[in-house]
Amino acid sequence: MQIGILGATGPAGSGLAARLASVGFDVVVGSRSKYRAMEVRDGLVERWDGFDLSIEAADNVGAADADLVVIATPWDAAAATAEAVAEQLAGKVVISMANALAKVGHEFQPLVPPRGSVAASVQAAVPRSKVAAAFHHVPAKELGDLREPVESDVLICSDHAVATETAVDLVRRIPNMRPLDAGELSNAAPIEAFAAVLLQLNVRYRTRAAVKFTGIDAD
Ligand SMILES: NC(=O)c1ccc[n+]([C@@H]2O[C@H](COP(=O)([O-])OP(=O)(O)OC[C@H]3O[C@@H](n4cnc5c(N)ncnc54)[C@H](OP(=O)(O)O)[C@@H]3O)[C@@H](O)[C@H]2O)c1
Repeated sequence: MQIGILGATGPAGSGLAARLASVGFDVVVGSRSKYRAMEVRDGLVERWDGFDLSIEAADNVGAADADLVVIATPWDAAAATAEAVAEQLAGKVVISMANALAKVGHEFQPLVPPRGSVAASVQAAVPRSKVAAAFHHVPAKELGDLREPVESDVLICSDHAVATETAVDLVRRIPNMRPLDAGELSNAAPIEAFAAVLLQLNVRYRTRAAVKFTGIDAD
């Protein structure tokens, strides 16, 4: 399966691109500028020489031609980025990983975007697509460091069963990550907002925290 990542020139999208390519997916890194995407692709392939990563570069329109598309832009650009390629995304599963946050002084604070969550605004922008929210709590640096597995649960929610199943299958392919079905897209609001808590913990404890739930036997 080919996976396109829109906004893949940032740490989250490029980290996800490397990780997904490392487990055998064909990945297209997308950007508003094809040249920036090419630079990122070249950097990933060079950094992880020996991993035989299948990564192509394209502008966001080209990356949206993939079978499955991830939106990895800042929160306030996610819906517009999806809407701009609505034709290519029609009928496909689209994963939104954006968190609506603001840094106010030393505090990370969650914001309430239109429709309550970024994922819900992406779904409204591309009504013919099936949007799932996922990967909100996975730290980008660890995601992109292929020397180590990422120990993390990944909360997934969607109003479309096929989108949840596709995201679950995707996460299951990544060693040490555990997909958890967190219900309907309305739960994207608290999932996204919790990222502010994680970032605050990172600052307080000088780390990069991820999420692991106890008491769930989800194998
Ligand atoms: N960083 C993390 O650890 C982490 C973890 C999980 C989830 N997330 C979420 O993942 C998303 C991406 O995070 P990031 O840290 O990689 O963000 P970022 O570096 O700020 O942005 C990612 C890319 O989005 C594109 N972009 C920026 N402004 C845009 C605009 N106005 N319109 C369209 N595209 C725009 C840029 O690519 P081009 O200029 O090349 O188009 C940029 O490189 C965020 O929503 C974040 O909340 C981050």
